[in-house]
Amino acid sequence: MFALDREMQTHIPDELFDVPTSFSVFQRRSMPLRRKSLVILSTVIALLFFAHLSRAQNPAPGVHALDDGLAFTPPMGWYPWNEFGQEPQNEKLIKEIVDALVSSGLKEAGYAYVGPDEGICFYRDAGGKLTSNLERYPSGLRGLGNYIHRKGLKYALYTDAGTRTCSKAMPGTKDHEFEDMLAFAEWRADYLKIDWCNANGQDVAASYTKLRDALHAAGRPIVYSLCSWGVGEPWKWAAAVGNLWRTTGDICAPGKADWGNAMKVAAANQKLFEAAGPGHWNDPDMMISGMEGLSEAQNRSFFSVWCMMAAPLMAGNDLRKMTPSTIQILTNREAIGINQDPLGIQGRIVRRNGKVEIWAGKPLFDGSQAVLVLNQGAEPAQVRVAWSDIGLAESAALFVRNLWTHQTAGPHGGGISVTVAPNDVALLRISKRNAFPLPPIIVADSYLVSLRAAGAAARKLTGVVTVKTNGSDELPLWKVRPGLPSWLSVAVMRKGKSQTLTNTVSTAGLTKGLYHALVRADNVEPVSGKPMSALYYDVDLEITGGAAGRARN
Ligand code: GLA
Repeated sequence: MFALDREMQTHIPDELFDVPTSFSVFQRRSMPLRRKSLVILSTVIALLFFAHLSRAQNPAPGVHALDDGLAFTPPMGWYPWNEFGQEPQNEKLIKEIVDALVSSGLKEAGYAYVGPDEGICFYRDAGGKLTSNLERYPSGLRGLGNYIHRKGLKYALYTDAGTRTCSKAMPGTKDHEFEDMLAFAEWRADYLKIDWCNANGQDVAASYTKLRDALHAAGRPIVYSLCSWGVGEPWKWAAAVGNLWRTTGDICAPGKADWGNAMKVAAANQKLFEAAGPGHWNDPDMMISGMEGLSEAQNRSFFSVWCMMAAPLMAGNDLRKMTPSTIQILTNREAIGINQDPLGIQGRIVRRNGKVEIWAGKPLFDGSQAVLVLNQGAEPAQVRVAWSDIGLAESAALFVRNLWTHQTAGPHGGGISVTVAPNDVALLRISKRNAFPLPPIIVADSYLVSLRAAGAAARKLTGVVTVKTNGSDELPLWKVRPGLPSWLSVAVMRKGKSQTLTNTVSTAGLTKGLYHALVRADNVEPVSGKPMSALYYDVDLEITGGAAGRARN
């Protein structure tokens, strides 16, 4: 079970919270004074280091966001920690979750990244190389990745920037950065969360920057998720280093959803809105919607707040045991459309009245605005949202779409009034037009094409990847990036909102062995003209000594 005595450097930047004195992140030991001073010292060093960087530009002065084409919209997926902790993470559990992700409709709604968190996945062998824990993951970590890719999902893995992971059950990357990132690339990870345990004396920014360089050297496009729980104030520098960074301590202890703590995490995270944007996101942690202990209203409110904050939507509940209400909440396309908006602007609290908050500051790609009214009080609240509260002209006549009832009202001049039940929300989209288009939500049938042929005769084999958008508009054709090996060609064809990427392999001249290519394709969101996350998938080709050729996908 979760090891309570494990050593961990959990740091909550108190100034981020509205109620600093009463806030705690479940029962982790507070840091000893010496370690606190080290954390403060390394934060100061990091700040001084970055202070000399020049030119003010979004998201923070002097920080040039990574331009790796990844995570242009907040990553969506599932991670085990909130529900399961370290146990019983193993291949069987992850595969069951993957199957549930597909059968429940979450995949169709855009959830893609999935994999074990700190689930004792690997060891370091005597030669220093990471090796899969075959007792827990009998197919090996590469085999688990193949399973996930064949389902049209992306593979998420976990490690640590220090000497050991938080439970100390797995090796950290310290002094093994380059070889470890190669191992994650060989396992075909698409997303890597890197924790900050057992990193005494390490500089946060320098450690994560070295890991970025190692990831890039490994050559696979991998969404890079920094997890220092706010230590080192990553919102000030990490846009140049990774794609998302945790802003606070853990949202809950494994299996113990904590509504009060979640709302404190949200209050802290929303203040950092200026740091977020396409490719670089504030991460207030995995979601707790659907976990035991939350009411339906709280599940809906939590999800709405995460959508407004353009937060990564990593579900943290047991997907095998979802109620219809949880599925309906987690797959609400209109709410997801707010989160996945291609402008990538993080909303924030613009007005607070006691326990009632109005969240806005989230313009969307079609010129509409997202607005959230959250009532954390014990009584129903009648709330007037004036257009002037959300930066709009009082005289404007605007349509109001309720993203939970899926009804549109208006046009209204001046503002609108809503009644919000305790712990519930009104999630609204406000527009001059009576039209509420959805941005693209990309879903693929597979991210792995496996082909096999006998070596004796030259053959042509094909494997198809079908990609579709669940947004309102059709997309332009994906453009395959040049640089494919000579044995592979890819043709892109459109059929309605789905496109096929037909991979044709010619085995002429190839000798027995394994061949691999990474196919990358680009597209832009048609209405805003903003780029979307690059699409990529693996093509494996095996030339055997046998007679027959066949295609597997
Ligand atoms: C830290 C992270 C969590 C989880 C655990 C695993 O606490 O913040 O999200 O990854 O480590 O041990």
